[in-house]
Amino acid sequence: MIAIILAAGQGKRMKSDLPKVLHKVCGKPILNYIIDACKNAGIEKIIVVVGHKADVIKENISGVEFIVQNEQLGTGHAVMCAKDFIDDENVLILNGDIPLITSDTLKKLSHMHKQNSVTLVSTVVENPSGYGRIVRRDEKFLRIVEDKDADKNELLINEINTGVYLFNPKMLKTALQLLSNNNVQNEYYLTDTIEIIKSMDDNAGIFCADNYHEFLGVNDRVQLAQVSSLMQKRINEKHMRNGVTIINPKSVYIDDSVEIGQDTIIYPNVFLESNTKIGRRCIIGAGSNIVSSEIFDEVNVQSSVILNSIVKSKTKIGPFAYIRPNCIIDENVKVGDFVEVKNSNIGSGTKISHLTYVGDSDVGQNINFGCGTVTVNYDGNKKFRTKIDDNSFIGCNTNLIAPVSVGKNSYIAAGSTITEDVPEKSLAIARQRQINKLDWKKKN
Ligand code: UD1
Ligand code: CA
Repeated sequence: MIAIILAAGQGKRMKSDLPKVLHKVCGKPILNYIIDACKNAGIEKIIVVVGHKADVIKENISGVEFIVQNEQLGTGHAVMCAKDFIDDENVLILNGDIPLITSDTLKKLSHMHKQNSVTLVSTVVENPSGYGRIVRRDEKFLRIVEDKDADKNELLINEINTGVYLFNPKMLKTALQLLSNNNVQNEYYLTDTIEIIKSMDDNAGIFCADNYHEFLGVNDRVQLAQVSSLMQKRINEKHMRNGVTIINPKSVYIDDSVEIGQDTIIYPNVFLESNTKIGRRCIIGAGSNIVSSEIFDEVNVQSSVILNSIVKSKTKIGPFAYIRPNCIIDENVKVGDFVEVKNSNIGSGTKISHLTYVGDSDVGQNINFGCGTVTVNYDGNKKFRTKIDDNSFIGCNTNLIAPVSVGKNSYIAAGSTITEDVPEKSLAIARQRQINKLDWKKKN
């Protein structure tokens, strides 16, 4: 079986510079969902018909073959453009704008098809407007009538064409040659091939699918939001079935690509995005946003943002911490409230409890940062690194003017501005001595 996905249309109603099929649903382009459903149904050869902004689509999608339909003369014409790919394998055809389609449904369709010349997937919906209607006489399929071509009675039919079909290759080729564009839109409708095939050998089957959600098309941004929320529900339910607690699933956004370990608890208003991996028994507290990051087991994140970083086991982040790209935070670390860490390595057991900026730094193990420490990494022109060795104690309100290093087991007195390297086991005090002016008040 081969698959032809129709994606040449402009998607006018999206009102977008981005081609419709590249708009994302739960972090993944619409077209990729359809491609993945085909692949998971065991289809290896997938042809995508592109036209409007073909180059942008080609740049963003891989693992398929493309054919260009230069002028969009209808869904039938789109398939004609791909006719050189049609030989002796059955041909699955799908619209490129139905991301909720599942591989299970495609497998069922293939099972139903058997020796049919064509099997079309229909479904029953409450509001059929916009869709092609399935016209039957005495229960038997007669034809598909497009919304724009339908008469008053036909408009009432709520069994619709989903835009998913499986064809015998020979019959498809023959029927395509017989298509005309004699209709309201002057388009070559793929849907007319079903009636043509039926008139030739009466061997057209219908598979009426019971879950119409799978066939909801994305034509505008309202439908994009509707489909996204159904996809989100599907993704969240998958994780819950795998042993993840999600306290209020409606408020939690998890990209399709995210992995989460068993017994992790996700609080409300959490966003987990692009290839993030969360370990087992973690707590991801309310309002956290984790992007492209790997979180190991038993990590506790509270109301924090983590971007492009790695956080190892049993570490606590937040509340209100900001972990910017390129950090590796080791086990049993504490990164507390209003702490920002960027492009830094933090060793195990280290505590950065409050109001601190650690940027471009290599921080060892078991270091204590006092409140209000700043690594001064930028001179207005270049960035420099700070290195702090194991077991050191950085007093409150310290400035570390990089490049600078602090040796093992050292102490820095509170309020110091450190401009020179601190040798191991020493105490650095870099502040003016206090002067007390006695009876100063009286004199003034
Ligand atoms: C189509 C079906 C309709 C069905 C509905 C299901 C036809 C004539 N009608 O209508 O029966 O109920 O899908 O969602 O097929 N495309 C091309 N080249 C073209 C025209 C379209 O590649 O020249 C692509 C579009 O990019 C889109 C798909 O084909 O992905 C469907 O086209 P669209 O215009 O959305 O068809 P509908 O009016 O929704
Ligand atoms: Ca459509």
